Amino acid sequence: MHLPDLEIAKKREKKENKYIELKEKYPKVFTGKKYFLRTYGCQMNVHDSEAISNYLEVLGFKKTDEIEQADIIVLNTCAIRENAKDKVTGFLGKCHYLKKNHPNVKIVIAGCMSEQPDVIKEIMNKHKYIDIVIGTHNLHELPKLLIESFDKQTIEVYSESDEVIEGIKYKRDSKITAWVNIMYGCDKFCTYCIVPYTRGRERSRKLESIIKEVEDLKNKGYKEVTLLGQNVNAYGKDIGESFSHLLECVAKTNIERIRFVTSHPWNFTDEMIDVISKYKNIMPYIHLPLQSGSNNILKRMNRRYTKEEYFELFKKMKEKIPNVSITTDIIVGFPGESEDDFNETLDMVKKCEFDGAYTFIYSPREGTPAAKMEDNTPMKVKEERLYKLNELVNYYSNLSNNKLLNKVVEVLILDKSEKDKDKLYGYTDTMKLVNVKGDKNIIGKIVKVKITEAKSFSLDGEYVKEEIAN
Ligand code: SAH
Ligand code: SF4
Ligand code: F3S
Repeated sequence: MHLPDLEIAKKREKKENKYIELKEKYPKVFTGKKYFLRTYGCQMNVHDSEAISNYLEVLGFKKTDEIEQADIIVLNTCAIRENAKDKVTGFLGKCHYLKKNHPNVKIVIAGCMSEQPDVIKEIMNKHKYIDIVIGTHNLHELPKLLIESFDKQTIEVYSESDEVIEGIKYKRDSKITAWVNIMYGCDKFCTYCIVPYTRGRERSRKLESIIKEVEDLKNKGYKEVTLLGQNVNAYGKDIGESFSHLLECVAKTNIERIRFVTSHPWNFTDEMIDVISKYKNIMPYIHLPLQSGSNNILKRMNRRYTKEEYFELFKKMKEKIPNVSITTDIIVGFPGESEDDFNETLDMVKKCEFDGAYTFIYSPREGTPAAKMEDNTPMKVKEERLYKLNELVNYYSNLSNNKLLNKVVEVLILDKSEKDKDKLYGYTDTMKLVNVKGDKNIIGKIVKVKITEAKSFSLDGEYVKEEIAN
C-alpha cells in the first residue's frame, strides 16, 4: 500500500474566528452511525475530546461505549512518556482485529502523538489500516477530512500553528463543571518535555471571548470552570494581557468556583497571588510542579527557577492565600541525577509538605535535548527512588487529609460514586476528593459535609446541609 508523504502545512499567519458553523457547512451525513472515542493524556486532551465529540455529533454520529458497534474509532493520543505511547500502540492491535471483521470501520489518530512525525511514520508502517491522522493544531478540520477521505488514507498534520481558534463548540461531559481553554501551546522547552513540539508556541485566546464563554456556562447552570493551559499563568503575554487581570474578570462573572491548571512557578506573580486571595470564588488550590529539588537538575531541565525561588513563592502563597492547598509534579531519574540530587528532592518534599504529588520516572522523548544527555543511572535505582519518593508524598497527603477529620467543609457534589453505589462524590474547594453519604438531589450543589474518615487519596464524609448560596 502506498503511504502518503507527511505533508507539513505551514500555516503561520494569524487567523482568528476561523471556526465555521459546521451545521451549515456539513449536513448530517453520518446519521445512524456510531463513534467510539478513547482519550489518553492530560486535561487538554480530555477537553479536545469534548470538541471531537461535538464535531462528530454535528455530522450525525452517536456515541457508543461498545467498540465492536462503532463505525469510527478515534484515539486521542498522548506522547508525554513512553508508556503513554505504549498504551496507544497496544490499543491499535485491538483495532487491527476489529478492522479485519469490519473493513468499513474508520480508525482516526488524533492528539499529541500525531505531531511526532517519526512516531507516526513508524505507526503507519506497522498499522497500514489507519484511515486518518489529524494533528492538535487542525482538529477543527476533522469533519472535512472525514467527509473527504472516505476512500483514501489521510494525514493532515500542521507542524506549527499561530492560530487561535475562537468559538469552538464542545459536547461537554459534565453539566456541573467545565474546562475552558484560555491558551494553547507551550514555549518553555523544558529539556525533557515533548509538549512544545506537539502543541506549538504559546497562544492566548481573547479575554472577551473567554469571559463570554464563562458567562454562557454560568447561565447554563455550570457551577465550576477550570481555566486550562499548559502554562495557564503565562496567559496574555502575546496579546498584552495578564493572567491576574483575566482571573479577576472571570471572578467578577460570579460563577461559583474557578480553578486553573497548570501554573509554572516561573510565571507566577504577586498580582496573581493577590487576586486569588481577594476573590472567594477563586479556589484556594494551586498545582505548582516542582520537578526536582536540586538546583543542578533544575538547571539541566531548563526550569528557569532555583529551589530557593520555588520555596519563596510557595511560602508567599501559603501566607497570603488562606487555607491554600498546593500539589506538585516530580520527575525522578533525570539524566545525571545523583543520590545527593535525589535527596535534595526529598528535602523539598519535607519542607513543602505538599497536599499531593504526581510522580514520574523520567522517560526519554526523541527529539528533546534531555534524550541526548548521558544517563548512567540504572532503571532499578530509578524505581527505588520513585518508591521512596511516593512513600514520603503519601505520608504528607495523608497528613493534610487528616487535618480535615471531623471538620465541616464545602463540597461541590458531582455524581454518584462509581465504587460505592450508596455514595456520591465531589471536591472540596482545596480539590480534595470526598465520598459523601447523602441523597442524590444534592448532585450539582455546593453543600456542607462533615469529614468522618481521612485516607491517603480521598476523604469520607456525611452531608450536613445545603449551602445558602445555592
Ligand atoms: N506544563 C506543566 C506540565 C505538563 S506535563 C508544567 O510545566 O508544569 C505533566 C507532567 O509530566 C510534568 O509536570 C512532568 O512532571 C511530567 N513529564 C513531562 N515530560 C516527562 C518526561 N519526559 N518523563 C517523565 N515525566 C515527564
Ligand atoms: Fe513541558 Fe515544561 Fe512546557 Fe510544562 S512548561 S509543558 S513541562 S515544556
Ligand atoms: Fe500528553 Fe499532549 Fe497532554 S503529550 S500530557 S496529551 S499535551
